[in-house]
Amino acid sequence: MITKIKEAADFLKSQFTQQPKVGIILGTGLGGLVNEIKIEKSIDYKDIPHFPVSTVEGHSGRMIIGTIRGVYVMAMQGRFHYYEGYQMWQVTFPARVMKMAGINTLFVSNASGGLNPSYKVGTIMVINDHINMFGTNPLIGPNMNEFGPRFPDMSEVYSKRLINKAFEIARKEGISLEQGVYLGTTGPTFETPSEYKMFRILGADAVGMSTVPEVIIAHHAGMEIFGISIITDSGVPGEIVEVSHEEVQKVAAAAEPNMTKIIAKLVQSL
Ligand code: HPA
Repeated sequence: MITKIKEAADFLKSQFTQQPKVGIILGTGLGGLVNEIKIEKSIDYKDIPHFPVSTVEGHSGRMIIGTIRGVYVMAMQGRFHYYEGYQMWQVTFPARVMKMAGINTLFVSNASGGLNPSYKVGTIMVINDHINMFGTNPLIGPNMNEFGPRFPDMSEVYSKRLINKAFEIARKEGISLEQGVYLGTTGPTFETPSEYKMFRILGADAVGMSTVPEVIIAHHAGMEIFGISIITDSGVPGEIVEVSHEEVQKVAAAAEPNMTKIIAKLVQSL
């Protein structure tokens, strides 16, 4: 496994003209951040050694290398979800490859269902903690000591430093921003009303089908993490309406300009 990670990282490194400072994983409907990137190279996942290939709609499956406001970044347009049938090591393979390629900061974005009753559809939520409800953990198996310890501390997974900076940026830009707990679950079903209620009782502000596995792996490897989520539908009792992948994509796309501004400015501030 370590050999595969190294081969993928070595291939990507051979494509860099500088050391990227940040790795970015773009979620559903949020691929438009790519428009902020001055693209130097765009590589199909199928051309990266050992990379899984993305299957879900709205995820095109490319690694973009370039600059955001002068900062050299590597961005994944399309991620791998557990519900697609990938093993956890495949879902999290890119995060390890990024680390092995010398990247120490990871930005992740996603779409999620809102559980906090004060959130409206279209709310942007900075992730300040997560709950892993995947029923498994990507670190199960022999520990890869090259990356981190057997029993990783999880007391501050999402960087307070970056969260504070994001709120400063939002204030200056007049963008309203919330922060809360993201609960990750397998999908592919959206939640029943009772499941939304249960996840709220468990302490989550939003629920989605991604992010937690990659973040666990990145945190294990000592990366600084910033996560941001767009609330695309409501799981609040009395506000639940039928939800579809198309609706999720539409709402995410509408909120994207503000999210993009925050990410771009945050990258610039690093
Ligand atoms: N539940 C789970 N995942 C999601 C949702 C949701 O309501 N919305 C977008 N991704």
